Formats: sequence, structure tokens, C-alpha cells
Amino acid sequence: MHGDIENILMTEAEIDECIRRLAAQITADYRDKSLTAVVILRGSLVFAADLIRKIELPMTVDFIQASSYGAGTISSGTLNITHGLEDDPTGKDLLLIEDIIDSGNTLLHLREYLKGSGAASVKVCTLLSKPERRSVDIEADYTGKIIPNEFVVGYGLDYDQKYRNLPYIGILKRDIYE
Ligand code: IMP
Ligand code: MG
Repeated sequence: MHGDIENILMTEAEIDECIRRLAAQITADYRDKSLTAVVILRGSLVFAADLIRKIELPMTVDFIQASSYGAGTISSGTLNITHGLEDDPTGKDLLLIEDIIDSGNTLLHLREYLKGSGAASVKVCTLLSKPERRSVDIEADYTGKIIPNEFVVGYGLDYDQKYRNLPYIGILKRDIYE
């Protein structure tokens, strides 16, 4: 285990099992739809790469990026879209792929933005959710794991752009960011 990690929250095996369950639900629900996974950069990169390979349907993948936390751990509540979709979303069933829902601000803004884009539907799949931290009323349509109010890294999630390459999800030691 990396020296900056307090505890492992999800092992590689637990992540794998969780993704299989999410992919099976998505495969069942989108059978007659026109699925486009919209990967929210950068944190969802690893999750999305594993998830899409377990979805047994024809689909496309696009990317979107919004302003992130930077070096802090608190969201500003405002959102800049720094990279928009490449493909025309008209008539597509968009599934936003998020790493973690914290305050919910990022997702609320992105979902409303995409709902105004001509897409047939917009839903959300998140690997992790911290409901204790929610400041706006939003839940994902597909949630991997509900977690306590701790700052977590690994499997795509960063602190100050580090730890994204850890293969598991760990709770970051407080003295690293406090
Ligand atoms: P929200 O807008 O407050 O819901 O923040 C969502 C974004 O904040 C996520 O997409 C992550 O990039 C980041 N974030 C929130 N909590 C954590 C965490 O525990 N570890 C790493 N990134 C986090
Ligand atoms: Mg993110």
C-alpha cells in the first residue's frame, strides 16, 4: 500500500465486482437505445475504461471536462466546461460517467447542460457517492458504492493530480491535505 494511504476503501477485486454489477444493469436498461457514454475527465478515465468493456451493447464514447477542484478539496460551486462533446448528442441516450459525487454541483450543472443539448435522455452512473456531503439535490441513476465523508484517491481519483494510477481506492492520510 502507498505510504500516503490510511486505509484501502475498495480493493481491485471489489472494484471489479462492483463494475460487473453496474455494467449488467446498464446492458439490460439500454438494450433498445442509442447509448453514448460521456466520460467526465479526468477522474472517470479509469472507471470508464473498465465499465465500457463490460457493457455488451453497441455504443459510442465521448468526453466532457469541467473545471475541477485544483489543489483544494472543496468545490467552488461554479462550473466551467473546458472541453465539450465532440459528437452531436441529438437523439442519443447519454450516460454520464462520473468518478464520485460529493457536493453534487458538478453533476447537476453538467446534467442540465446536456439536457439542453437535444439528447433523447441523460442519465448518470457514478462509481462512488458521498451523500453526507451533498449540497444540491441530485442522485445518480447507477451508483457503485456509497462511502463515508473521507477524501479518497486512486483508480482515477486524484489529490493535486497525484495518485490517479493506484489500482485500488484508498483513504488519503489527513496530514497530506490538512
Ligand atoms: P462535486 O461537484 O462537489 O460533487 O465534486 C465532484 C468532483 O470533485 C468529482 O468529480 C471529483 O473530481 C472531485 N472529488 C470529490 N470528492 C473527492 C474525493 O474524495 N477524492 C478525489 N476527488 C474528489
Ligand atoms: Mg471529477
